[in-house]
This record gives sequence, C-alpha cells and structure tokens, in this order.
Amino acid sequence: MTDKDEIFSKPLNKVDDFKFDRNVAAVFPDMIKRSVPGYENVIIMSGLFAERFAQTGTNLYDLGCSLGATTLAMRERITADDCRIIAVDKSVDMIKRCRELIGEAGSSAVQLELREADIRDIEYSNNSMTVLNYTLQFLPPEDRRPLLQKIYDSMLPGAVLVLSEKVTFEEKQNSDLFIDIYHAWKAHNGYSEMEIRQKRNALENVLIPDTIPQHLQRLEAVGFKRCELWFQCFNFMSMVAFK
Ligand SMILES: C[S@@+](CC[C@H](N)C(=O)[O-])C[C@H]1O[C@@H](n2cnc3c(N)ncnc32)[C@H](O)[C@@H]1O
Repeated sequence: MTDKDEIFSKPLNKVDDFKFDRNVAAVFPDMIKRSVPGYENVIIMSGLFAERFAQTGTNLYDLGCSLGATTLAMRERITADDCRIIAVDKSVDMIKRCRELIGEAGSSAVQLELREADIRDIEYSNNSMTVLNYTLQFLPPEDRRPLLQKIYDSMLPGAVLVLSEKVTFEEKQNSDLFIDIYHAWKAHNGYSEMEIRQKRNALENVLIPDTIPQHLQRLEAVGFKRCELWFQCFNFMSMVAFK
C-alpha cells in the first residue's frame, strides 16, 4: 500500500522546480502510475527484454532507477548466469526508499548493486543491457548525446538499450492535442485541474522533452544499428535500440 500523491493538491504561491525528494519518494508509485500512460506495461516489457538480452556474466544498467520498479522486473526475468544489475539514481531519498523496497522483495541469483550517483559520472563496462525509463528527459539536452555515446561504447555486440520518455511533436497542433488528451487522462485518474497545472509548471524547466525523430537520429548518430519505437501512448513512448 503506497501513499496517495497529493503533492500539488494545495494552491501554492510559488511553484518550485520539481525535485525527487523525500516527499516524492513517499508517493512515487502512485504518482508515476497516475502520471505516465503505459508505465506498468513498460516496466513489465523491460523485464521481458532483460530475459531475452541479458548475456551470461555481464552487467545490466537501470539508470534513474527511482524505487527500483524496472530493476525488480528485470531481476525477476533474467535467466542468464552470473548477471549483475547496476541500479543508479542521484536522489538520496529515492535510493534510500529503493533499498528498503528491494530488501523487502527478497533475494535472487542475479547480483544487484544500488548506487547513489549521477549517471553521467559513472563508468560503464561489460554492458549487455541498459534501461533509461523516463530519465534521459531530466538531463540538460547537451548532456544526452555524450551519455548515450558512453553507454553505446560500453556495450557488447548484441546489447540492447530501452529508452522510455515523454516526447513532444514538431507539429504544434498534434503536440497541443496530445497534451490536452494527456491532461484529460490525468483528470480521469483523480488529479484536479489545479494539481495538473501546478505539476506542469514545476516540471517546465526540469523535464525537457525531445521529439521521436530527435531520439532516433541521436541513437543512430552514436552508433546504434537498429532502433524501433515499440510503444506509444499520446506523448509518452518507449523505444529499443540494438548494437
Ligand atoms: C521519472 S524517474 C524514473 C522512473 C524509474 N526509471 C522507473 O521506471 O520507475 C527519474 C529518476 O531519474 C533520476 N535522475 C534524474 N537525473 C539523474 C542523473 N543525472 N543521474 C542519476 N539519476 C537521475 C531522478 O532522481 C529520478 O529518480
């Protein structure tokens, strides 16, 4: 049972930039389920990709792991021997709660390393799979390609990247329509108009979405040979890229 997300339910004089702090960590499962269309499917599918692509004796990375939903889905499905999942998040509060939840989830043959770190700063090696579920969008745009290059360079032949993001669209009419429908979906999930507006303002300078063509071009530019969009719902998508 997780707490209900009521972070933006009271009127705020000033809406600060969104932070993954203690308050967010406490309600995150409810928040993300009601805010990201398709989230639960993307998590399950990340596990299925891990089952298929984890190579024996390799590392798998979950970047911006938050409370470890993707990590746990991957760990549950990996059958290859001697694999290690390296789950990384720079928020001390998210990592602390993640540690508690993973502890409660029991043990597994898959090794698991939780790191409180910036995903731009760590070393990557022996990499058969990397997942960026709704994390790249929080990096300054100029830092996205260097990170993807670093990940690509650390990957083994046959490795896979799962990249899930909020996106925008070149055509303004389409962009406006999808944002509008997305907000209707959030209202359907119990968020008030004020909560939706205040959260949008809090994210404005923090979450900068790219378009789907921008994502595809960047993945190709760093070297990924095949990229495919495998999921989209309004302005949220997930793609997979193969080395
Ligand atoms: C929307 S959440 C990701 C959700 C998570 N992947 C899942 O599937 O449940 C974004 C996470 O990325 C983390 N994050 C953002 N920028 C980061 C960075 N540069 N290094 C490490 N973690 C980062 C945030 O702290 C936050 O926990």
